[in-house]
Amino acid sequence: MSDEVLYELDGHVATITYNRPAALNAVNGAMRRGLNDAFARFRDDDDAWVAIVTGAGRAFSAGGDLRDGAGSIGEFPGTFWEKPTINSFESGWEIFKPVIAAVNGYCLGYGLTLVTWCDFVIASDHAEFGYPEGLLGTPAIVGAIRLPQRVNWQYAMELLLTGERIDATRAKEIGLAGWVVPHDSLMDEARALAARIVKAAPLAGRAAKEVAMRSQHLSSVEAIRFGETMRKVVGTTEDAAEGARAAREGRPPEWKGR
Ligand code: COA
Repeated sequence: MSDEVLYELDGHVATITYNRPAALNAVNGAMRRGLNDAFARFRDDDDAWVAIVTGAGRAFSAGGDLRDGAGSIGEFPGTFWEKPTINSFESGWEIFKPVIAAVNGYCLGYGLTLVTWCDFVIASDHAEFGYPEGLLGTPAIVGAIRLPQRVNWQYAMELLLTGERIDATRAKEIGLAGWVVPHDSLMDEARALAARIVKAAPLAGRAAKEVAMRSQHLSSVEAIRFGETMRKVVGTTEDAAEGARAAREGRPPEWKGR
């Protein structure tokens, strides 16, 4: 694991931290690899049920590293023709565990692209969001794909086509952030949300997220067939039996993630 990205596990909650505060957590090649490694670790860690992603210092991330030049976030592995999609977090890597973005400051470009992938966005009242790429003469491609899926078209276009930043209040108003909280309570709020999520069965939650994600690209018949298949799979888990047993016995369930 690189120093540019930290991974910590506390109970069932992983915290992934952008850690280049002197460069406002701008993403260079090492950091991009570190992020992909951290999210792969989260995906594969059976004890990690929820992740919080945040930034060290006063920024969440100021986007791609401008000092290293245009190719700074690193070349894609393999050739373009062999790998038409980038197998990475920002390109929509398949992770069905819930992810909370705790946005502590500037959240720009590549940083915002990551946030538009997260399931929950909690913004500090210091946070600012934007896609400055247009002001640099380049398009924000993954942002252009993902932002209109998160917010109303014209607000997505406003961000993508002006390159301007919006504050946390405006981000909440347009639905980009779910909550705005005082800066000093940001991590407590994120952990409180994670604690609420881990009270529910992790595999059932993962199935619900996977069905929610995949069904957007399926016809309704296929979506229901896929969803009902997932229901049967989850029904065979130890946690499903435990949930039913705990309800019968009138006690809180103890989830194992199995
Ligand atoms: N790449 C590399 N370094 C960056 C960076 C980036 N995207 N954004 C900020 N930094 C560095 C600055 O160069 C500066 O380093 P220094 O202290 O060694 O000079 C440090 O982070 C602090 O940035 P600074 O500009 O002094 O802070 P600020 O509070 O005045 O402004 C921003 C903050 C985010 C508004 C401003 O840094 C900015 O516009 N950054 C570029 C954003 C951008 O266009 N990102 C690309 C998206 S694809």
